[in-house]
Amino acid sequence: MAEPSFLTAVRESYDTVAADYVERVPPPAETDPLSRAMPAAFAELVRTADRGPVADLGCGPGRVTAHLAGLGVSAFGVDLSPKMIEPARHAHPDLRFTQGSMTALETRNDELGGILAWYSTHHTPPRWLPAVFAEFHRTLAPGGHLLWGDHVGDERLRPTHGYGRPVSYESYLLPLDRTAGLLEQAGLVITAQLQQEPGGRANRPHACLLARKPPTP
Ligand SMILES: C[S@@+](CC[C@H](N)C(=O)[O-])C[C@H]1O[C@@H](n2cnc3c(N)ncnc32)[C@H](O)[C@@H]1O
Repeated sequence: MAEPSFLTAVRESYDTVAADYVERVPPPAETDPLSRAMPAAFAELVRTADRGPVADLGCGPGRVTAHLAGLGVSAFGVDLSPKMIEPARHAHPDLRFTQGSMTALETRNDELGGILAWYSTHHTPPRWLPAVFAEFHRTLAPGGHLLWGDHVGDERLRPTHGYGRPVSYESYLLPLDRTAGLLEQAGLVITAQLQQEPGGRANRPHACLLARKPPTP
């Protein structure tokens, strides 16, 4: 099947901006306290549940993957853009980074103890989100946790430039309750929600969700 055009646009755009992204986006240690607290809480939940490794989906240069590894989590990264993965592999040679898409993961059913989707789903057109969240549900082990974070709003953006370079991707900002509803429709149970005003790395309102695949009785 031919690749959906939005994936081609995202890959080509992030291949173009990769070096600038690393320079311009602050690493986890330099973000706001709440944006650091959520991955820390997620790491503790995943360690305690002990259901398997964490996949950082849309890992980009792997800094949040490495941050989780530093919190004692077995983590690996997946990204659509080979040029985003290059700096990840260079900076973190001890961690595994593979090219792939969260629309169709090369991961077995119930394999993951956790999924991190950190500022990586907003380029996915809303009609594709049910397929992405079905992949989250399929690959999470029963009792596994999801941490999702991203910009929120109610807008479709068509920027001509990103990180100082020409880009062809689009961004789809959704209200937090819509994302939560789609995750619930995929079979995940929302356990926490946090919405923040602009600040830290985000120049727009942004939010985090924690969700869980129900444990088998
Ligand atoms: C804004 S960056 C965030 C990178 C990283 N999560 C971080 O916080 O630094 C978005 C990343 O998501 C990746 N991405 C977007 N859609 C994807 C998909 N369908 N599958 C895998 N990666 C994707 C992009 O290639 C890009 O590297």
